[in-house]
Amino acid sequence: MKNTKFIILLLFVSLFFIDNACAQGDGVIEMSTKNNTLLVSAKKGEAPLLLYYGSKLQTPQDRQFSMGKLRAPLYPAYGLVCQDEYAIQATHTDGNMSLDLVVESVEQSDEKNAGQLTTIRLKDRVYPFFVDLFFRTFPEQDIIETWSEIQHNEKKDVVLGKAASAAISLPTSRYWVSQFNGRWACETYLSESEMMRGVKLIANKEGIHNSGSDNPSVIVSIGAPVAEDHGDVFAGTLAYVGNYKILLNLDPSTRLNIIPGINEEFSAYHLPKGEKFKTPSFIFTYSSNGKGQISRNFHRWAIDQGGLYNGQKPKDILLNSWEGVYFNQNSADLNRMMQDFASVGGEMFVMDDGWFGVKYPRNDKSSSLGDWQVDLNKINGGIQALIDTAHTNGLKFGIWIEPEMINEKSELYEKHPEWINGQPNRKTINRPGRGQMTMDLTRKEVCDFIFNIVDTLLTKYPGIDYIKWDANHNITNQGSFNLPPDKQSHYYIAYHRGLEGVFARIRAKYPNVVMQSCASGGGRMCYGFLKYFDEFWVSDNTDALQRIYMQWGASHFFPAGAMASHVSAAPNHQTGRSIPLKFRFDVAMTGRLGMEMQIKSMNDKELLFSKKAIATYKDIRPLVQFGDMYRLVSPYENEGMASLMFVDRDKSQAVFFAYHPRVRAGEDLPAWRMSGLDPKALYQVAEINSIDAPRIAVAANIVSGDYLMSNGLRLPISGEWSSIVLKLERVEVK
Ligand code: GLA
Repeated sequence: MKNTKFIILLLFVSLFFIDNACAQGDGVIEMSTKNNTLLVSAKKGEAPLLLYYGSKLQTPQDRQFSMGKLRAPLYPAYGLVCQDEYAIQATHTDGNMSLDLVVESVEQSDEKNAGQLTTIRLKDRVYPFFVDLFFRTFPEQDIIETWSEIQHNEKKDVVLGKAASAAISLPTSRYWVSQFNGRWACETYLSESEMMRGVKLIANKEGIHNSGSDNPSVIVSIGAPVAEDHGDVFAGTLAYVGNYKILLNLDPSTRLNIIPGINEEFSAYHLPKGEKFKTPSFIFTYSSNGKGQISRNFHRWAIDQGGLYNGQKPKDILLNSWEGVYFNQNSADLNRMMQDFASVGGEMFVMDDGWFGVKYPRNDKSSSLGDWQVDLNKINGGIQALIDTAHTNGLKFGIWIEPEMINEKSELYEKHPEWINGQPNRKTINRPGRGQMTMDLTRKEVCDFIFNIVDTLLTKYPGIDYIKWDANHNITNQGSFNLPPDKQSHYYIAYHRGLEGVFARIRAKYPNVVMQSCASGGGRMCYGFLKYFDEFWVSDNTDALQRIYMQWGASHFFPAGAMASHVSAAPNHQTGRSIPLKFRFDVAMTGRLGMEMQIKSMNDKELLFSKKAIATYKDIRPLVQFGDMYRLVSPYENEGMASLMFVDRDKSQAVFFAYHPRVRAGEDLPAWRMSGLDPKALYQVAEINSIDAPRIAVAANIVSGDYLMSNGLRLPISGEWSSIVLKLERVEVK
């Protein structure tokens, strides 16, 4: 009886697989989201092909017609065809460097909070070498997540020369590629260029700061330069914490191949029999309505589907102590800062670098990393005393740490010189002027030490609600005194596996602590980190003008609530530029608002305005942190003049921001148009966050969504450093 039941179950399960694998009887798998279709040919015994990815195919005829157009390898392997760009290369035990992967089976299953998970199982025709390709659909957000898993049953290790996450191809056209480059103090600047024949790389091999130079994200506009609200656009971002490579190749047939994954340079991986090598996820989407929709797809996915850790939790307004006191953290100043911040309505205080080190007090960057004991000479009564002061002032409390790093001048280095990474016979290059090095996270004891830094802080001080996790050095002297000689090329991958292991342990034990990912500013701005982190520090540059550009760039993939954005002093410490306080607030309010300055240096008028701005932000916080973002006027095309807005999901409320940094004599500004509203609805428009009385006449007026979007409003912001914030509320008119 038991056996019969088992056989029936087996029959049922195999029918489900077969039925889904050959849903149309032709081996074609369809993976759909709300507005898009992905078609793959996965015939048993044949190499899988990508047939189509684009806007939704509505009829069987459309489907039939589109199937013949692309026919690109779904996961091209190096070997039999050697001249093409490839997603995977493996050297077998016998020295054969090729793969010939064909479909074994296909499975599809429903996912709990998403759409479907499709698994396409591939096997080499000759060798016991297997690749599973995964595609998870998020229908509502029009997002697909893809990754691969590789294993084998060969006698000895197989060396993976490359193992990309995926390969996506787009049909013959002209393409424009947008990417997000930068360096310290000017991260995620947007640039676009036409894709020429050949290869383009968006890549990183810094080891730690994996988004400080290029961000691991790409937007491809098909047929014309990209626009916000029209045109066919593909976009993808790699969720990885380490070195990556997004390779774009416009091949001789003018098909564009996009191959994202771990950067294989210096990372050949010796895969033992039975071990599964899982690649990072590539998250992608498509829109026929321009890149604005692309961004909203990513934002909604991050907020609703866990792309951003605790994405649905409102974020507190915080004061960070860094630009206020730098290394001179001390009770008197910090207590005063907390008191001042509470008086303007702040919600959390974060103590930055400089609070630790006993034998070697941390007074500059040259010492103490690793010695995570509070310096009682600076902080009377220790961390608990600060937490108590924060609580007395009605604030939460947060703390800065940089746990992967070690200074040569530290007690930790004296005790564990072997914990750094490096190469035999060479002196480890540390960060010039700092004696700062990275620790070897391939060592279990180092990972345990890092976990314990956080664990000890959070168990000893349950009043710590927030951690700013920094990383101010890259990996130099790639190599490990811990790994055997034939596994030295594993270092980058093993480091990040170690790091992710620590993050996972922290999240299992402390699901509610808020964590910021920071690496000399915006060096860790990607979904590999955001799986564990609530937000990221966009840049060490807090100048409001440059922030408009950087936050604009970051907004293409990341929701505003994830972008920590602080009002700092004037003149600004990075640029020397003096920008009025209102403008500074109006820019910072389009992210997770915070402050980073000495509030005591403000005059009464500024204090009053700060209080007002913080209250305003509390009112619009749900719109900014969870609403749909519409980019309107781009600073890149208008010398910093910009506007954007956030609309709630039922289009009943919105908040609009416009910036006019430079005065131009005789300039006649066009009306500022909006987007994302309900054209049929009527909205009451009111200026908020004004210094004095609201400046616009429409304040009491009611305007239709259609008018606001097609005609727009003329706004009184033609002066130097002028900005405006408008709140829109849908009204019912009888
Ligand atoms: C990095 C961070 C800054 C600050 C300093 C402290 O540069 O990006 O915000 O925390 O480190 O050393």
